[in-house]
Amino acid sequence: MRYLILSDMHGNRSALEAVLRRVRRKRFDATLVLGDLVGYGAAPNQVVEAVRALPGRVVAVRGNHDKVAVGVGSGENFNHVALIAAQWTSRRLTPGNARYVRALPAGPRKVDDGVAICHGSPLDEDKYVFSDQDAAEIFASWRTPVTFFGHTHVTSVFSVGDGWVRVRQLDGARGELPIHPGHRYLVNPGSIGQPRDGDPRASYMTYDSGRRVVRWHRVPYAVGEEQRRIRQAGLPEILAERLGVGA
Ligand SMILES: [Fe+2]
Repeated sequence: MRYLILSDMHGNRSALEAVLRRVRRKRFDATLVLGDLVGYGAAPNQVVEAVRALPGRVVAVRGNHDKVAVGVGSGENFNHVALIAAQWTSRRLTPGNARYVRALPAGPRKVDDGVAICHGSPLDEDKYVFSDQDAAEIFASWRTPVTFFGHTHVTSVFSVGDGWVRVRQLDGARGELPIHPGHRYLVNPGSIGQPRDGDPRASYMTYDSGRRVVRWHRVPYAVGEEQRRIRQAGLPEILAERLGVGA
């Protein structure tokens, strides 16, 4: 099976369009969407509509920003900027797009044999998986061989095979990650709409389960255009600035 994996679009239209343009001629058996379609960015409707228009089989889960934007979550643990953006988003979403976001299920979701997705952790959709300690706690009870997760906006992988949990940040424009039989993986495709690993390019992944290889990709997009959209919307300036540096 060939999968396209998209995460943390965050209402960034230019970034999502650049990724979808890049994969336009490729064929996938399913697209996996790891949540946070909206929040922060100034084009929530366009992003939700692009996800709704994805061809073929789509398996999606909700993110914490999706929940707050449609009133499923309270946002009590959000910082000021995130909360302002979520409130702005909830005023802008069309009724149909809000309905779609509200209906997104909580993770984890099984996709196929050996593949699952979630937003934060497979044990708690809102929890961040940052450290090898976080990953070790998950690997202690979570048996699925390959789980894709988002939420941290860092393109990275945690793996366990011989008892040790390994962490690797996946840098550069592209690269390949071999999936070894018998090992287990927590794989983060990074963020399309708001990368936070110092590389402002949109980040996404593909997974070929037959060839046992995950590929990561970074795509440049019109950052300036998206910054302009954020400023015109009256959203906090810091949201525009962060796009420029990938933080
Ligand atoms: Fe996010």
